[in-house]
Amino acid sequence: MAANKSPGYDEASRAARYVLSHSKIRPRVGVILGSGLSGVLGRLREADRIPYRKIPFFPKTSVAGHAGVLHLGNWGKVPVAVLEGRMHLYEGYRPAQVAFPTRVLARAGVRTLVVTCAAGGIAPAASPGSFMFFRDHLNYQGANPLAGPHDSRWGERFVDVSEAYDARLRREARRAARACGVKCFEGVYVALLGPSYETPAEIRALRCLGADAVGMSTVPEVLAARQAGLRVLAIATISNRAAGISRTPLSHQEVLSVGKKTGRDLARLLDALMPKLGEA
Ligand code: HPA
Repeated sequence: MAANKSPGYDEASRAARYVLSHSKIRPRVGVILGSGLSGVLGRLREADRIPYRKIPFFPKTSVAGHAGVLHLGNWGKVPVAVLEGRMHLYEGYRPAQVAFPTRVLARAGVRTLVVTCAAGGIAPAASPGSFMFFRDHLNYQGANPLAGPHDSRWGERFVDVSEAYDARLRREARRAARACGVKCFEGVYVALLGPSYETPAEIRALRCLGADAVGMSTVPEVLAARQAGLRVLAIATISNRAAGISRTPLSHQEVLSVGKKTGRDLARLLDALMPKLGEA
């Protein structure tokens, strides 16, 4: 692969072969963990840990709270691959690099992807500690991992994202949240480039555009997953009220510490949901 070329289909296939040769697990469900949400890892049994730096062509992570380890294990009866640590556009990665781990999971046999992230709450229902299941998104990152030279082995060039987030999984997720006593709602996520948080004026504008929660991730992975034909459930854990709505300054520390608590709720939610996730 040329030094300045983004990793493509052949590289993802090689990375997937490497992963599968280092574990007996044949994952059907993939989970991408957002900032501070590593608490769910305690649920995996017989887990193999593969550091990203050992996987061919995997980009490296740099943000505090993002470890950079792929875990393969059984969650209940379901074989699962968990990406602990993600790449963000604001770190300077190209969109195709951000989407690469998702594509590797697809090549490794994953059929259903759960993408999680921390987000700022814009809608009144979006209180810190609550969960938002994505109904739709606004991509305001100014980038798309499907842009650039097209390799038809990934899927279509012009991907239909009118139903990017699986309606049945959303329904099951709401049911599971009710059963666990976790506060949740469905809404629209707006993805911005970051890494600065938004201004109060930006949040007012985003609210008018229909955004319920704001973050700096998730959309690139979802677009790559949909192109590869995966079912997608995306969950934002609301760590703070967005700028101008919050009375206190925003901080990454706050995002991480709220994440720790919501991580426990997320683990309980996924416990209840995993049999459904494993069905496809
Ligand atoms: N804005 C953007 N990203 C975030 C926020 C926020 O308020 N909270 C957690 N991630």
